[in-house]
This record gives sequence, C-alpha cells and structure tokens, in this order.
Amino acid sequence: MSKTMKRPAAKKTSARKTAAKTMSQGADAKSLLHEFLVDELKDIYWAEKHLTKALPKMAKAATSDELRQAFEEHLEQTEEHVSRLEQVFEMLGMKPQAKKCDAMAGLVEEGKSIIEDTEDDTATRDVGLILAAQKVEHYEIATYGGLAQLAKTLGLNDIKDILGQTLSEEKETDERLTEIAETSINVDAAGEDE
Ligand SMILES: [Fe+2]
Repeated sequence: MSKTMKRPAAKKTSARKTAAKTMSQGADAKSLLHEFLVDELKDIYWAEKHLTKALPKMAKAATSDELRQAFEEHLEQTEEHVSRLEQVFEMLGMKPQAKKCDAMAGLVEEGKSIIEDTEDDTATRDVGLILAAQKVEHYEIATYGGLAQLAKTLGLNDIKDILGQTLSEEKETDERLTEIAETSINVDAAGEDE
C-alpha cells in the first residue's frame, strides 16, 4: 500500500454532520429526506399557482377551439392540483407555503415569447403553444413522479396517493396535447405560408 494513501475521511465527516444536524433539531426532528420533500412541495405549489395565471392567457391566444378548450379544462384541473397540495401541507401539519420555482417561471416565459413570436389566428401559433404546454407537463410529470415516490419511501402513503392522482392527470393532459397536435394542428400548420 502506498504511503500517500489516505483514509476516506470526507465520507465519515459528512455522515457525522448529518447525525449532528438531525440531533440538533430535537425530539420532533424530521429526516433530511422529509425536509427535502417539504421543500419540493413548496416549489411545485408555487409552480401550480403560477400556472393558474398563465393558462387563461394561453387559452386566449389559441387559434383552434379544440386547443382553447383543452387549456380551459386543464386550468380547472390545475386549480384542483393547487387544492390537493394544500391538503398535503395540512396532512403534514403545516400551512401551505410557496417557494418560487425558477423552472416553471422560465417555462411560462417561454410560452409568452412563443405567443409574441407567432401570428394571431394561425395553426403555427397553436403548434408553439402545444410545445410550450407539453414542456410544462413534462416538468410536472417528473416532479409528481419523483415526489410520489419520495412520499412512499417516507411511509406517507396517503400523500403518495394524492400526488399520484395529480400525476395521472398531468400524463392525460400531455397525451391529449399530443393527440390534438398529431390529428390536426401540425398538419394545418404545415400548409401555412409566411
Ligand atoms: Fe398540475
């Protein structure tokens, strides 16, 4: 063995730090994973509330009635997603708290740019709106999928079920948007000239 070889001290130190942090929080201390889950719930709570403001603008900007209706219906669902998260906070014995989600803020900004960069009453506008909306849905699917799994790991099965319910609705919305794009809007947009 080389004389210069060192013991893996870094790992030990971090384990000790973790233990010290947990102990310093007293008898009611929750695990770091629990704290992480709560933090992420604040993030998605902000994101969902932000979406309730963005979706009416997306519906208004849509060209086709079918897409407008899809956005309007998803707005109703999103309001329900906000209520479900409030219920989750309550189950954790907390008041709902929102923490700015930079990712959702950015995705909504991107949607706004698409509206600005495309012409009113064109199928190309709708193609752009669907793309923006699907990026949002994929972000939400990743978030709810991960958080439901975390809740399960922590033995919070009721919370896992609530998050799973929202996860299913986000997936359905994503599929519906794909269908609208593939059955009509993409084809209409392909025939549009400058
Ligand atoms: Fe949602």
